[in-house]
Amino acid sequence: MGLWRVLFFMLALTLVFCVASACENTATTLKPVVPTKLSEKETVDDGKIKIGFSMDTLEEERWLRDRDLFKAAVEDLGAEVKILAANGDDAEQVLQAEKLISEGVDLLVVVPHNAEATAAIVNKAHLAGIRVISYDRLVKNSDIDLYVSFDNEKVGELQAEAITKLVPKGKYVYIGGAETDNNAHLFKKGVFNVLQPLIDKGDITVVYDEWTRNWLPDNAFANMEAALAANNNDIDAVIAANDATAGKVIEALEKQGLAGKIPVAGQDAELLAAQRIVQGTQTMTVYKPIQTLAQEVAELAVRMAKGEYIDTDRKVNNGKIEVPSVLLAPIAVNKENMDETVIRDGFHLREDVYR
Ligand code: GAL
Repeated sequence: MGLWRVLFFMLALTLVFCVASACENTATTLKPVVPTKLSEKETVDDGKIKIGFSMDTLEEERWLRDRDLFKAAVEDLGAEVKILAANGDDAEQVLQAEKLISEGVDLLVVVPHNAEATAAIVNKAHLAGIRVISYDRLVKNSDIDLYVSFDNEKVGELQAEAITKLVPKGKYVYIGGAETDNNAHLFKKGVFNVLQPLIDKGDITVVYDEWTRNWLPDNAFANMEAALAANNNDIDAVIAANDATAGKVIEALEKQGLAGKIPVAGQDAELLAAQRIVQGTQTMTVYKPIQTLAQEVAELAVRMAKGEYIDTDRKVNNGKIEVPSVLLAPIAVNKENMDETVIRDGFHLREDVYR
């Protein structure tokens, strides 16, 4: 066999060998493009589903309850949860979410401090193949996978319905929530769904309407003092976006000798608010059974972490997409139904409310 032929034969053989190995490499890279967290997980740790819970704050009584109830619910489902709270700091919340993502959580649950800023967290999680649930507050303008909360517009309607029943005509003050919180906009929309027709009729005038920066009660106190001063204490009703701000509204009224004389609405059924209601300085609050919210999100989070896709009848538009959503029913609470609502549910003990 001539020299040239031998050389040609060897060249062909080398070429075949190279092509074969190149094909093999391409196959490998294709496979892990969007790794399922679970498959990776099984190989690297105890195989337990790991949920990350990125919270805005633990300032209000309710968030402490959300934290504990969610943790217990996730663990009851045989999964584990890592919880971080950012104390109202946007940059810190993004850093904490990055930490949870880098620790390999299978699913991220977020209570956004800032509805817009947290969109970055959703993008980072998705890049890592992790889906995200919006807990109680909606993340705006992002491809959030699921939103679970209460019907927050209904919260505002319940507040305004209770107060307009007592004060169908007069001067109103609205103490809103944090403008960065999408819920605050929904609460306010609900309140004005009820007030607007009465405003249009000239029965009601809203003489003061301000957001409460960062939901900080002291900001609500300052706003209420400003409202009283601007109206020479001539105010007939106050709707405050939650109980923490309502408590400060009542402190400001107290200073003017008006506590218990002017109806005040709140939200969250905090213990102090329940006490104020039975004592008569606060008119009502809106009870949101957080145990139901925490349980619902825990179950959905574990199912999604196992790869299930959750679709819902209800959708909420977050400015970018129609987000599959679960909205639970809020409940109006006053002196008359305190026992058959928050006390019957064990949300508060009777002896604590009627101390
Ligand atoms: C809202 C929440 C309320 C209230 C508030 C302050 O988003 O729905 O329950 O507590 O935040 O943190």
